[in-house]
Amino acid sequence: MEELLSEKARIIKPSITLTISAKAKKMRSEGIDVLNFSAGEPDFDTPDSIKQAAVAAIEEGFTKYTAAGGIPEVKAAIIEKYHAEQSRSYGPEQVLVSNGGKHALHNIFQAVLDPGDEVLIPSPYWLSYPDMVKLSGGVPIILNTSLEDNYKISPDVLAGAITAKTKLLILNSPSNPTGAVYTAGELTALSKVIEAAGIVVVSDDVYEKFVYDGKSFVNLLMVAPHLAESVIIINSASKTYSMPGWRIGYALGPEPVIRAATRIQGQATSCAGSISQKALAYALQSDAGLIEAFRQSFEKRRDLIFEGLTAIDGIKTFKPTGAFYLFSDVGELYEKLDGVSDSVGFCDYLLEELRIACIPGQAFGEDRCVRFSFVTDEAAIHEGLSRLSQI
Ligand SMILES: Cc1ncc(COP(=O)(O)O)c(C=O)c1O
Repeated sequence: MEELLSEKARIIKPSITLTISAKAKKMRSEGIDVLNFSAGEPDFDTPDSIKQAAVAAIEEGFTKYTAAGGIPEVKAAIIEKYHAEQSRSYGPEQVLVSNGGKHALHNIFQAVLDPGDEVLIPSPYWLSYPDMVKLSGGVPIILNTSLEDNYKISPDVLAGAITAKTKLLILNSPSNPTGAVYTAGELTALSKVIEAAGIVVVSDDVYEKFVYDGKSFVNLLMVAPHLAESVIIINSASKTYSMPGWRIGYALGPEPVIRAATRIQGQATSCAGSISQKALAYALQSDAGLIEAFRQSFEKRRDLIFEGLTAIDGIKTFKPTGAFYLFSDVGELYEKLDGVSDSVGFCDYLLEELRIACIPGQAFGEDRCVRFSFVTDEAAIHEGLSRLSQI
């Protein structure tokens, strides 16, 4: 039946992570105590006050289609956030509210990419970027970075990758999967190359609130506001407010791009869910203390797991300054383990033998590594470290 499928559908790879997650799920359902270090979402429930705002919206009958780009109330809250936090002024026509940050990204790629346009993706990358780019007709161009580069691209690497076909660069800081965070100085240096090349940048800021070691979040536009006409910001409630299942996120950018992306969204899903839009509007105006409590809890867990992993022979771990993942180079351990030659085999071994679920680095473009998320409780982290030290 393959012949029924479009070419587009055929080029999209099945997710490498699916096999591991399905296996972990099955083991758990059989009562096996699998420790979960594979999650890509906070382990907290959505704060009660946000849930109550959604309940109120349901009870008030706020249950109809909304304007394609989002309700005025949520757009106003987003605009206010960027004014207060990043001193930038956006108009309502520069904001698009979508069904999650991922949907916002999809709409933007559809709006700006033509077939053959090259999209620069620093690696290790969030696993959805290459396939999303391909779905929009673009060509992913991978910019490799390593532990020695602190998993960040330099201006030289960026300049060397730019061709006449380059349309867009994706920056994701804090990064999934490495937790690397660009500094203001590094972004300023990159901005010069970006400006000279005249390319579009998508700044995926969904982990902006989870930055550690007393550092502050900074994005490209905060250091190079003159690039506002070519930078699109992506953000989401999923990580910040622990609302992944609500499917609500947004994009901000130049009016023509946001208008086009809104038209595309209008023909695909009409609008984001009305209840989730109300919940996001409330969340954006809620007590910043809620997020800070999440952040502090993640930082504590990061310290715990980082220290533990660093003490294990054969595992080299990058210390993340943001997000909630640890990216560890475990390549040296492959030869110690029978039948293991790549990160998928290693994760399979961890699951089968040590009952630990984590994500193979191959999914993020780096086969010597695995990603451990630390959105799990401290007892599980202690137990996981003790199991890992048996290798
Ligand atoms: C880097 C990055 N960007 C975007 C997203 C999309 O999140 P959502 O669609 O839940 O807003 C994720 C989710 O894992 C992510 O890790």
